[in-house]
Amino acid sequence: MIIGSVSENKELEKRVSITPEIAKKYINLGFEIQLSENYGNHIGFGEEEFKEAGVKFVSDDKKLIQDCDIIIQMNLLDEDKTSLLRSNQTYIGVLNPYENKNKIDQLVNKNVNMFSLELLPRITRAQSMDILSSQANLAGYKAVVESFSVFEKAIPMMMTAAGTIPAAKILIVGAGVAGLQAIATAKRMGAIVFATDVRAASKEQVESLGGKFLVVEGEENLETEGGYAKEASNEFKMKQEELLSETLKKIDIVICTALIPGKKAPLIITEKMLQNLRPGSIIYDLAAVQGGNVAFSEVDKIVEKNGVKIMGESNILNKLPVSSSNLYAKNVFNFVSNLYDKDNKKININLEDEIIAKTILK
Ligand code: NAI
Repeated sequence: MIIGSVSENKELEKRVSITPEIAKKYINLGFEIQLSENYGNHIGFGEEEFKEAGVKFVSDDKKLIQDCDIIIQMNLLDEDKTSLLRSNQTYIGVLNPYENKNKIDQLVNKNVNMFSLELLPRITRAQSMDILSSQANLAGYKAVVESFSVFEKAIPMMMTAAGTIPAAKILIVGAGVAGLQAIATAKRMGAIVFATDVRAASKEQVESLGGKFLVVEGEENLETEGGYAKEASNEFKMKQEELLSETLKKIDIVICTALIPGKKAPLIITEKMLQNLRPGSIIYDLAAVQGGNVAFSEVDKIVEKNGVKIMGESNILNKLPVSSSNLYAKNVFNFVSNLYDKDNKKININLEDEIIAKTILK
């Protein structure tokens, strides 16, 4: 069986789905690997390294797509490429099924097996495949690094002969995977860290990382059975606004990560609340692409309001493409290993397997 991956638009997506290390693993499992020419050169995965692992490079992407049994990408490719897909081929990626519904429906109708990895269930067996966690973890780390780099004061407390610099105070809104890594990263740099979330379970996790958890008093736990957040009521939002407005008066940097699966990101830091931040403060809105947790946040721009810089990017992982590709490629390899029937050398779409049933698009 042939697994292939073609280069994506490198302006928008610097990550790759197959690394030399992972290519070798597929080949050891019995697959042949085909990639576009210059597939990973832009992030230091050179053709020589791939070739040493046994990879074949193909100059014509269309031929590559037509010849492969399994196509692995980060995103859904453009229509000129996906229109080449045919019955019984398998396509694996982060396909954004809500936004790409029409395009995906057409491919599903053609009997292409479309797997979207953001739909993986959060069960123990799927942890090694969990692309949301591997990527969000790196995003949380990088959001802290990015915001610290534009902040015009030092982060840790420093006692010097010339005087004392106080430690910076950071607020993390949303303590899921990205938020928890943001807390850990900010703590390592010496910041004082506060965090809040709508899920009661996150309190213990925040505290175990040395953060101070801010509880919205008198409210029920807004956690679904799957471990995700539910949309908050208006009453909750008002209480949260009150709590955070007070907190913002002493905060230097805010990292926002709050998301509700399948919905627009909740607006948490309103225009009015922004006035409580001092000039020179920074907000990094990781939710900017999903609509933003912060009033005025704009994708790929630094917006300045009353001296507060509000940042957000379309793809922060483009700033860590090597680490994020390494983890993504490993996640997908674990997914393919679960899908592959080694004895019969074919893909086994066993719908009794929750991992397969939840990720296949119908
Ligand atoms: P996410 O990326 O969907 O959301 C980020 C965070 O924002 C969540 O913690 C959510 O509760 C919070 N949030 C949503 N609305 C909010 C609001 N209005 N105010 C404040 N915070 C708000 O979530 P992520 O990071 O994917 O994690 C969700 C859950 O999945 C967590 O319980 C996590 O522990 C769990 N998980 C389980 C895994 C497993 O394999 N068992 C792997 C990864 C995560």
